[in-house]
Amino acid sequence: MDKTLVIGANGQIGKQLIGLMALAKMPVRAMIRNQEQAQIMEKLGAETYLADLEQPLPDEAFADCDKVVFTAGSGGKTGPDKTILIDLWGAVKAIDMAHKHKVKQFVMISSRDAGDPENGTPAIKHYNICKHFADKHLLESGVPYTIMRPGRLTDDAATGRITTQRPLNKDEQIISRADVAACIVQCLDHSEAINQIDELYQGDMPIAEAFIKAVRGRLG
Ligand SMILES: NC(=O)c1ccc[n+]([C@@H]2O[C@H](COP(=O)([O-])OP(=O)(O)OC[C@H]3O[C@@H](n4cnc5c(N)ncnc54)[C@H](OP(=O)(O)O)[C@@H]3O)[C@@H](O)[C@H]2O)c1
Repeated sequence: MDKTLVIGANGQIGKQLIGLMALAKMPVRAMIRNQEQAQIMEKLGAETYLADLEQPLPDEAFADCDKVVFTAGSGGKTGPDKTILIDLWGAVKAIDMAHKHKVKQFVMISSRDAGDPENGTPAIKHYNICKHFADKHLLESGVPYTIMRPGRLTDDAATGRITTQRPLNKDEQIISRADVAACIVQCLDHSEAINQIDELYQGDMPIAEAFIKAVRGRLG
């Protein structure tokens, strides 16, 4: 069974993802920043690797991993300097390592407005620009990709239902971290998700069905 390196495993999406992968018995290596985090991850059944995206990424972190999920981020409390270092440059370094290690799928947790930062929320334009260029680097890398562009994240419980169609009402352009984690598991498990870019919002279609519909829609 494929092993997945999860970068940002101790984050709010990351922890839920590790939990779901452990339940599904999917082999996983959690990239984390300190030893206390390792105990939680190991209890869940994940291997751990300590690394900081602001440093060069070691080959051992990627060794034996078939897939990579990038769900790290500098967060809203730091300045644009950290957004460049983590959300852009950290992602670029991870993509380059994925290319070097010939991974079969790189799942990028991007953002709703990464496709068009010019028309996104002005206050986080710098963030959307970083996400835009991280996605572009992935698209041009030759690494098989799945790019997920969720709306604003909430801490609501999982519903198991989403839409990939952007709702007109901005207040509805949201999705729970729990549902994003479930979407990642879905995409890791299905080859149709390779080389796809989808926005993700709360919705009323079961996750698996929503992805099938999105793929069929693109194929016409
Ligand atoms: N917030 C939103 O509305 C929104 C919308 C769309 C997309 N997103 C994206 O969704 C993703 C995950 O969101 P989330 O809520 O799960 O974020 P989160 O809870 O802030 O988790 C971010 C993770 O990144 C890790 N990280 C930060 N700096 C790092 C570094 N230098 N080296 C290694 N790891 C580092 C953090 O490590 P520690 O645990 O050690 O701090 C944390 O585990 C992010 O990429 C974010 O940009 C967010």
